[in-house]
Amino acid sequence: MLRLLTRSLASVAVIFAMVGIAGCSGSDEALVVYSGRTENLIGPLIDRFSDQTGIEVQVRYDDSANLALLIDQEGSRSPADVFISQSPGAVGFLAGKDRLTPIDAKVLELVPARFRNAGGLWVGLSGRVRTIVYNPELIDPSQLPDSVFDLTDVSFMGDVGLAPENGSFQDFVTAMRQISGDDVTADWLEAMSANDAQAYANNSAIVEAVRRGEIPLGLVNHYYNLRAIAEDPNTITQNYFFP
Ligand SMILES: [Fe+2]
Repeated sequence: MLRLLTRSLASVAVIFAMVGIAGCSGSDEALVVYSGRTENLIGPLIDRFSDQTGIEVQVRYDDSANLALLIDQEGSRSPADVFISQSPGAVGFLAGKDRLTPIDAKVLELVPARFRNAGGLWVGLSGRVRTIVYNPELIDPSQLPDSVFDLTDVSFMGDVGLAPENGSFQDFVTAMRQISGDDVTADWLEAMSANDAQAYANNSAIVEAVRRGEIPLGLVNHYYNLRAIAEDPNTITQNYFFP
């Protein structure tokens, strides 16, 4: 089960869903995309799509949760054809409200089965892996655990950095709830708190704290340490991937 959990927590970070609406975009209308992912990341993809297909696209950018609430409020009058969400929760909300329509089977087949909804309501667009970032001067990788559940061990007292208010941590907790259940997840969170896990504002702050030796390790997305290394090749912090 632990293996299943850690593997599944290599989570889908950005999700693509079709919004089920009455007034679909006719051939003379632009495709309307609501994107919870920012313009600097999505804009170039949209441009490339328009160049290749000749289809005009209008994009509304906002927070994923705001856009999901808007789609729900707009109901059958929503102009949105496509919803790109930064987090799974907003898509689950719309699926639960019956606001999504299945994606065409030909498109679904382009995406591996583990990264798409069983009912064909959404697919993963990009992924990230939850990893431990650690400082090899403070902890030997052989001491790192096989599972996040082992971070509650007293040997990690005060050692683990978390970003509780960060969306990626909250998505990670949501995944844990889905896979292991609410009780196990609540117990883990309480045990981490009791084990004096250290709270930081975000993933970057955790990587920085590990780097300057304030804490030996922290829970982050894999790319934050890769970014730190790209910016400064002398960065000593390393990613540890759960087995
Ligand atoms: Fe991020």
